[in-house]
Amino acid sequence: MLKRISMLVVAGLAAATLAGCGSESGGGSEAGGGGGDDAIVMGFSQVGAESGWRTANTKSVQDSAKEAGITLKFSDAQQKQENQIKAIRSYIQQKVDVIAFSPVVESGWDTVLKEAQGANIPVILTDRAVDSADTSLYKTFLGSDFVEEGKKAGQWLVEEYKDASDTVNIVELQGTTGSAPANDRKSGFAEVIGADPKFKIIASQTGDFTRAKGKEVMEAFLKAHPDIDVLYAHNDDMGLGAIEAIEGAGKVPGKDIKIITVDAVKDGMQALADGKINYIVECSPLLGPQLMDLAKKVVAGESVPARVVTEETTFTQEQAKEALPSRQY
Ligand code: AHR
Repeated sequence: MLKRISMLVVAGLAAATLAGCGSESGGGSEAGGGGGDDAIVMGFSQVGAESGWRTANTKSVQDSAKEAGITLKFSDAQQKQENQIKAIRSYIQQKVDVIAFSPVVESGWDTVLKEAQGANIPVILTDRAVDSADTSLYKTFLGSDFVEEGKKAGQWLVEEYKDASDTVNIVELQGTTGSAPANDRKSGFAEVIGADPKFKIIASQTGDFTRAKGKEVMEAFLKAHPDIDVLYAHNDDMGLGAIEAIEGAGKVPGKDIKIITVDAVKDGMQALADGKINYIVECSPLLGPQLMDLAKKVVAGESVPARVVTEETTFTQEQAKEALPSRQY
C-alpha cells in the first residue's frame, strides 16, 4: 500500500514538472497535439484577450493545433510587448520547432527576431505585421489586409453620404496605439474619405480595442462634440462600448449617430442586425488551420508564400440578419 502511495506521489510530481515546462510569462499553457514524441512543437505568443475577435482567434489556433497534431505552447501577453519578447526568448531556450506570434505593436522586434534566426527557429507572423526592414527575419505573414479594411469602411461612408452637401462630422476610435490594424485601418479610411472635403474627422483617439475603453472615450467625445454624425470604430468591441455611451447620452445609435466597425464577431453582428450599427467590415479570426499548414511546411523546409492574405467580406444590416444564425464566432 505504502509502495503504491509513493508511486502515485512520484507520478504526480512528474506530471506537475511537465506541466510547469509549458508555462510562459503572461499565463502560458501547453496543449498536447496528440502527435507523439516527434510532433512539431510550436511556441505561440498571443496579444491578449482584449476582444471577442481575439478570443475566437485563440480558440482557432488551439483547436487547429490539436487537429494538426502539433504541440502548442501558448502564452498570453496581456497586450504588452515586453511579455511577448519574454515568451519568444523562452521558446528559443526551449528549442521549439517553430515560433508564431501576433505582434501587439509593429515596431521593436528586430533584436528578438535575430535571436530566433540565430537559433535556426523559423518565425511565422500571424494576424499582425512587424515593420522590420529585414523580411528574412520571418518566413511568412498570414493575416488580413488592414488598409483594405479601412478603405472598405470609407467607401461605405462615401456612398451613404453621396447626396449630402453639409459637413459630415466623424469621430474615430482607434485600436491599440502602434499596432498594425490601428495604423492601417486609420490610413485606409483617411485615404478614401480624404477625396471629399465634406468628411471631417473631428476627434480620433485610441480605445485600445476594448469595450470598456471604447465606452469611456466615446463618453468624452460626446461631451466635447454635440454634433457627431458618424463613429468609425476600428473593432466591434469598441463600437459596442460606444453604443452604451451613445444610449447613455440619450441618442439613438445607428440613427442619430451612424456607426461603422470592423471584425464581424457575433455581438457586433447582432448589434448590426438590431440596427445599432450600420455597417461592418469583416476581419476573420479563423487563422488556425492555415497557420498549422504553413508551420508544417516551414518546419519541413518547404517554401511558403511571403504573404498570405485572409479572404474577407462586408456586412450591411440585412446581410447580418441572414448571416447571424450560422456565424461561428
Ligand atoms: O489584429 C486584429 C484586431 O485585434 C481585431 O480587429 C481586434 O478586435 C483585435 O483585438
